Amino acid sequence: MKTVLISQGTCCKSAGADRVLAAMERELSEVGLEAIVKTPGCHGFSEIDPVVVIEPDGILYAKVKAEDVPKIVQSLMDENRLAKGLYYRDPVTNEGIPYAQDIPFFNKQQRTILKNCGVLDPRDINDYMEAGGYRAVRKALLEMTPAQVVAEVKRSGLRGLGGAGFPTGKKWEMCAAAHGEIKYVICNADEGDPGSFQDRSILEGDPHAVLEGLILAGYAVGAQESYLYVRAEYPLAIKNLQIAIDQAKEKGFIGDDILGSGFKFDIKIFQGAGAFVCGEETALIQSLEGKRGMPYPRPPYPVIAGLHGKPTLIDNVKTLASVRWIINKGADWLASRGTETSKGTAVFSITGKVANCGLVEVPMGITMREIVFEIGGGVPGGKKFKAVQTGGPSGGCLPGALLDTAIDFDTLRAAGSMMGSGGMVVMDEDTCMVDTARYFLDFSLKESCGQCVPCRLGTMQMHEILTRITQGEGKMSDLDLLMELSEGVAKGSLCGLGKTAPNPVETTLRYFRDEYEAHINERRCPSRSCKALISYNINAEKCKGCSICLKACPVDAITGAKKEIHIIDGSKCTKCGICLDVCPDAFGAVECF
Ligand SMILES: Cc1cc2nc3c(=O)[nH]c(=O)nc-3n(C[C@H](O)[C@H](O)[C@H](O)COP(=O)(O)O)c2cc1C
Ligand code: SF4
Ligand code: SF4
Ligand code: FES
Repeated sequence: MKTVLISQGTCCKSAGADRVLAAMERELSEVGLEAIVKTPGCHGFSEIDPVVVIEPDGILYAKVKAEDVPKIVQSLMDENRLAKGLYYRDPVTNEGIPYAQDIPFFNKQQRTILKNCGVLDPRDINDYMEAGGYRAVRKALLEMTPAQVVAEVKRSGLRGLGGAGFPTGKKWEMCAAAHGEIKYVICNADEGDPGSFQDRSILEGDPHAVLEGLILAGYAVGAQESYLYVRAEYPLAIKNLQIAIDQAKEKGFIGDDILGSGFKFDIKIFQGAGAFVCGEETALIQSLEGKRGMPYPRPPYPVIAGLHGKPTLIDNVKTLASVRWIINKGADWLASRGTETSKGTAVFSITGKVANCGLVEVPMGITMREIVFEIGGGVPGGKKFKAVQTGGPSGGCLPGALLDTAIDFDTLRAAGSMMGSGGMVVMDEDTCMVDTARYFLDFSLKESCGQCVPCRLGTMQMHEILTRITQGEGKMSDLDLLMELSEGVAKGSLCGLGKTAPNPVETTLRYFRDEYEAHINERRCPSRSCKALISYNINAEKCKGCSICLKACPVDAITGAKKEIHIIDGSKCTKCGICLDVCPDAFGAVECF
């Protein structure tokens, strides 16, 4: 019997996957065909949502609409038929690729953390267990001591995948050694970086893997209670996690005497209110305690004194989802992957000016070029690649010259950026790097908790300067001032938010200084995106008077009779660029300066 997989992650649903599911159920019953319909979480290739996969054949239909479903069902009734025109088409070569395993987006990845996402039913613990789920808990609790679990994680070389890349085993060892009867484990599922959705997708699509990681962590460090700190904007993740917790309790993986080992462990969900700073571990602890989420100075580190003053281990979703692999396959398995100092894989959400937006899991040490061009399919529309920003709002913007750098925690940091939680935004030739720096700084400025003066006021002053430059009112001395302020904000801020907020400014100044200079010295935005520095004009010699631009202009700034030369009224024009887009290529009459 065929299995029909229709992913029901948040992005799939917003693209209409729930309507495709309803149509599939209806159609199958109408034609009387028996098939298993499965609703896994995120498959990762968001660009082609909604997706229908037919197993065991591995056929993938992309951008499926409800009205396409009868054609797919017909193909199921005829064993060897493919529903023509519905399978994936490579955006670069235009070649039709019916089988998921042949699609470059998938076949160049190395999926372990994301292995179950898009495959298993996240609301069915049996599906997870049949795929080897909870074997690591069984092995650890029944065959290993807590110290052996810690040692195995330490030997694997796993580093935290939530941002800082701190060695996970070392953190577990410190928490295990901390004095105290009561200890806590927290899964940091705050995921506040704009554009990042990897943690949400794992929580929605493979919640048991995260629970398994929490149980292993609790056993290793000697904690009996744990919290999943999830932002309230993730309702589907929260729903699937609660179902998973209830099922794990029923099966005896959470409770008073887990698998008869004598180990007692409970997991609760705490919904965060969605402040970026609450992802910072000390702010997260404050928030969990019911206080305002503000970072506080360390030491003592949470592993010594955290939640309610007790030793507390905080790990990211991806870090915890990685641990079962280490227990099942051994430390050497993970240690043999990745680079000398960054082991295993990294999960990125690749977005922006890239053909294949989505979630990718790749071995540490892969180059940026492989991710952006081979997996991501490159920059669409024949535009030129300009930069890639990694590490969320406070990551750095790296230029094309660094595309061949092998990326891991340390190389990214040396280049002025960071791995962060896995956000990756691709920018093309139309992106202004000064405005990009201003945009990211605006986010950090608004999300600052405000207690450190350099973070609160320094970022504000930097933002004002960047705004002036994008408006053509900058001075060359502003560039030195920006560097000085960057240093001051990074040095004088208490937490990672302030410490890293200047990264986009520092890296754009380092790698794209010519763009700053063009804004200041020539009052020109090289990518023609800073509105104050551009103007639109209709070339009288090229205008054919077709009136397409006149009809499209949303503010009636264009005048001209049919078949006569049209004119833009600069005082009305809002510089939206629509006239440039709609003027037929054959005329090319609208110009942007
Ligand atoms: C402003 C700020 C926001 C953060 N947001 C997150 C987050 O959303 N998720 C996360 O896992 N770590 C986040 N971190 C990092 C955490 O403080 C902490 O390092 C991490 O949860 C540790 O887990 P790991 O060792 O598994 O990476 C943030 C840090 C800062 C400074
Ligand atoms: S650096 Fe910024 S966000 Fe962090 S504690 Fe200080 S003011 Fe708050
Ligand atoms: S740029 Fe926009 S507002 Fe200005 S003339 Fe063209 S369409 Fe109208
Ligand atoms: S939820 Fe649809 S691709 Fe992620």
